[in-house]
Amino acid sequence: MSAHILLVEDEINMAKMQAKILQRKGYVVETACNGREALRLLDQSAFDVVITDLKMPVMDGMQLLRAMNAKERGCQVIVLTGHGTIESAVEAMQLGAVDYLTKPCNPDELLIKVDKLLETKRLREEVAQLRREVRAYKRFGELIGQSPAMRQIYTVISAVKANKSTVLITGESGTGKELVARTIHQQGPWADRPFVAINCGAMSETLLDSQLFGHKRGAFTGAIADHNGVFQAANGGTLFLDEISEIPLALQVKFLRAIQEREVTPLGSSRPVKVDVRLIAASNRNLEEEVKKGTFRDDLFYRLNVVPIHLPPLRERREDIPLLIEHFIATFSTEYNVEPKKVSPEALDKLVSYSWPGNIRELQNVIERVFALSQSNEITLADLPGSIVGFEFKQVDFEEMAELPTLADMERSLIRAALRKSRGNKNEAARILAIDRQRLYRKIEKYGLEAAAYADV
Ligand SMILES: Nc1ncnc2c1ncn2[C@@H]1O[C@H](COP(=O)(O)OP(=O)(O)OP(=O)(O)O)[C@@H](O)[C@H]1O
Ligand SMILES: [Mg+2]
Repeated sequence: MSAHILLVEDEINMAKMQAKILQRKGYVVETACNGREALRLLDQSAFDVVITDLKMPVMDGMQLLRAMNAKERGCQVIVLTGHGTIESAVEAMQLGAVDYLTKPCNPDELLIKVDKLLETKRLREEVAQLRREVRAYKRFGELIGQSPAMRQIYTVISAVKANKSTVLITGESGTGKELVARTIHQQGPWADRPFVAINCGAMSETLLDSQLFGHKRGAFTGAIADHNGVFQAANGGTLFLDEISEIPLALQVKFLRAIQEREVTPLGSSRPVKVDVRLIAASNRNLEEEVKKGTFRDDLFYRLNVVPIHLPPLRERREDIPLLIEHFIATFSTEYNVEPKKVSPEALDKLVSYSWPGNIRELQNVIERVFALSQSNEITLADLPGSIVGFEFKQVDFEEMAELPTLADMERSLIRAALRKSRGNKNEAARILAIDRQRLYRKIEKYGLEAAAYADV
């Protein structure tokens, strides 16, 4: 789409000449011979750029600037005048003009300014669009979630997907670390190249060494043939190193060298092989703690921690739980070839309040279990494991407890109690909790509570 430009100029010959310069570049140009006419045209259609003279009969350039409100209209104004003074330039800028040129103006200069303005405008719109999109996202690839934390993660994935920076994903078990790694790979330009995953915690040191870097035939007993390591297998694509904290210290040195030099030397070989991979490492441990303990090298940690992504546990983003339930119901109803199930309000309440130590994997298992065991088209309390149904925060002596509940857990259960007491009346609940209504609304949303569910309790 070619850009739309409005020329405001009272001198007809001057207007014709400027229009010709711009039209030659493919812009669509309309002209007005004073501010009043310009305003009329601006109301009829949208312009990307307005180029205006200052001195004109009927309505001059300053009056036009004052009346048109360029920002709101999303167009950029260049002032082009034969009577330039510093004062008028300052005034024009204050009124929203973005550039100021004096006549006679060099055609190239005008074109360069217009091009630059259009480019800035395009970029600004693109960024605004991206923000709007992410704000509305409920999912990203296969990742489900609309919590601020998940949306932040979608933004980070968008930012890194097209470059090869190393990503370190941390989070409790079952929070989706591997799924995030796969999403980064799938959304990037190398999606058709291999994605190779290796679990560094699942094998002995020698085996891990040969799995990572490969070996030559005869390098050790049992090495009956040459073997490419995962670095080579992932060449051109993504290498996902799960449970990175489990790499033995001795191998960490070799590993660090491999990622610094971008080459690996298979066991039993003296010839290094160049590799080009994007590294994504994951850990459910706090690597900084491991560094402090001396079980993880700090230089390796810094190499890996280029783009950190932390996946918060599910209990800290409960607003995602109903969405995930819906998602898993859709998945399993297809898989089991049955109608999607509804969820009773009491069951939903329990599912949202539960602490989910196994995070999304546990939630997925609970929903699948219902599909495997129940024929009914509604998920009720009877379908849920006892640990979830019986889960309840009680008034307890915190100092007696081995593990304290989080503040968010406490807050949520207090809000639920207030909603019960007020039978779902939010004004009343806000009064009980001594917070204002807006704040209560936000928290009800954050914790996935629905006041109506308490109306007839
Ligand atoms: N945001 C999400 N949306 C949809 N499904 C998810 C999401 N996060 C995780 N899952 C699903 O939950 C399960 C566990 O996820 P994943 O294996 O990625 O977790 P993990 O953090 O790697 O766990 P572990 O530390 O135990 O290896 C997978 O089946 C995955 O598809
Ligand atoms: Mg995993």
